[in-house]
Amino acid sequence: MKYGLEDVIAAETTLSDVDGLAGRLIIKGRSLDELAGHTTYEEVAALLLEGLFETPVPPQQLALLLGQARLQALAHLHTVDATLLALPPVDAMRALIARLPDGDDLETAVRLLAAPAVFLPALLRLRQGREPLAPQADLSHAADILAMLTGTAPSAEQTAALDAYLVTICDHGLNASTFAARVVASTGAGLASSVLAAISALKGPLHGGAPGPVLDMLDSIGRPLNARPWIESALDRGERLMGFGHRVYRVRDPRADALKTALRPLVKAGKVDADRVALADAVERAALEILKERKPDRPLDVNVEFYTALLLDALGFPRDAFTGVFAIGRTVGWIAHAREQALHGRLIRPRSLYTGPVPQAA
Ligand code: COA
Repeated sequence: MKYGLEDVIAAETTLSDVDGLAGRLIIKGRSLDELAGHTTYEEVAALLLEGLFETPVPPQQLALLLGQARLQALAHLHTVDATLLALPPVDAMRALIARLPDGDDLETAVRLLAAPAVFLPALLRLRQGREPLAPQADLSHAADILAMLTGTAPSAEQTAALDAYLVTICDHGLNASTFAARVVASTGAGLASSVLAAISALKGPLHGGAPGPVLDMLDSIGRPLNARPWIESALDRGERLMGFGHRVYRVRDPRADALKTALRPLVKAGKVDADRVALADAVERAALEILKERKPDRPLDVNVEFYTALLLDALGFPRDAFTGVFAIGRTVGWIAHAREQALHGRLIRPRSLYTGPVPQAA
């Protein structure tokens, strides 16, 4: 057996497919290039949820439901106390989600999509001693998240960039957190339980916890000339470069390019520090060269987290909140997989290979 279960097919899905050799991501029959930058979060969420609930949810209807659910989520913030605020944002967000009612219906699903989008910006403001800002139901999901985060109306470029990010990361085959969501759903537990399990899997540094450390790496490298020596010595110490490598992709992660494209209008509008972009370019180039020299037999390329770090930083999210933003976007994928599993799947119950001692025969 392989401890990472690589190459094991553990689910049949119509939701998304990751082609690691071609570097292609398909979501519900559309390639990521067709979706990122061309569709809104609401549209892609409606696409993923299509056919999984008794009530159909066209994008406009979903936008209305999400707006109302964001307003309702605000009421849950009264339970936030100092202990919760001392936790990393993704843990505090998870704790608040754990208080939501569980269920399998569309109402539960919409509540779970809306709540983290309200909880995360509110937690970030509360820990700065500022009051959370009320959601605006008539804004798009992306625009409202930014408005609640910053207190100002986001520009069209900023909203488009967050929309592109949320679309890019909405679903991604049977990754660790999605598998966790499906395992929980297979037991008959509700969508909130699946989402909580998925967030817990997502926060690890090998999965959704990588983008904060990507920014730490860029800060520590400091300037383009330092990229090569810094990377060489990190690899000499046996460290992994955050934002590089992938279990499935053997070529460039298509999501990295979708996010690099989404960054461009922000760079043009002067919302991203040009030095940081130049540094990121230099680090990417140096890392790819060095990884190729050191691991000629294992193609290691840039992954989604590298440009996630630059994009979310440019939008004003603090680096310890990046995993929480990832969870906001990925929740729809987790819910869709959980529903698919519950509707068509069986209890997931694999077996282990026992290698321990056996009792002596009497
Ligand atoms: N930096 C340096 N070396 C890396 C690497 C990285 N980011 N990713 C993989 N490698 C090396 C491993 O050390 C290993 O080398 P070895 O055979 O000499 O021990 C080899 O490449 C194969 O790695 P393996 O552990 O089989 O890869 P995996 O499929 O388990 O790893 C990740 C996938 C994502 C966990 C891994 O690439 C990683 O840790 N990346 C950094 C974290 C990150 O960016 N996560 C976000 C993923 S979207």
